[in-house]
Amino acid sequence: MSGVAESLDWLSERDIDPAARIYAQVFAAHPEMERLFFSDRDGAIKANMIYRAFETVLDIDATNSYGTNFVGCEVVNHQNLGVAAAAFVSFYSIMRDVVRAELGDAWTPAMEEAWLGAIARIGNTAAERIAQSNAPVTSLA
Ligand code: HEM
Repeated sequence: MSGVAESLDWLSERDIDPAARIYAQVFAAHPEMERLFFSDRDGAIKANMIYRAFETVLDIDATNSYGTNFVGCEVVNHQNLGVAAAAFVSFYSIMRDVVRAELGDAWTPAMEEAWLGAIARIGNTAAERIAQSNAPVTSLA
């Protein structure tokens, strides 16, 4: 089992949902982002968003069958919402920090390495997608 999956399994076995803590830290680090969720009256958007974020980091650390592609698409979609690509790295880093804090002594070097690797891939993907979306159209022929 991959390190990311192991760490998240540990939480789910104990019925620990880190979502509220993750959003609290994201909004503490980036207060201007909270108001972007003005239309999220019942929390469904944030719930779906974090579900996707967990799903993608799990996939990236396993087979990456779609994970970095999905993150790349969302980086571009979120640009239109005013969310910078770098915020994605920050979001996943905070996810890792919260999961690591919950695990405490149960956190292993393999988990550290796996999360670090996944976050690095997410950062590279975000940078590539932004470069592509800013590239000039030189020819339509
Ligand atoms: C700090 C980083 C992020 C911010 C500030 C942010 C912000 C937002 C906001 C404001 C919306 C609501 C858009 C609307 O009003 O319709 C949204 C939706 C969404 N975000 Fe993010 N996002 C972030 C990171 C991510 C990440 C890492 C993922 C997953 C890869 C993601 C996936 C989604 C998805 C799938 C939705 C649509 C949810 C739905 O409508 O049910 N976001 N995001």
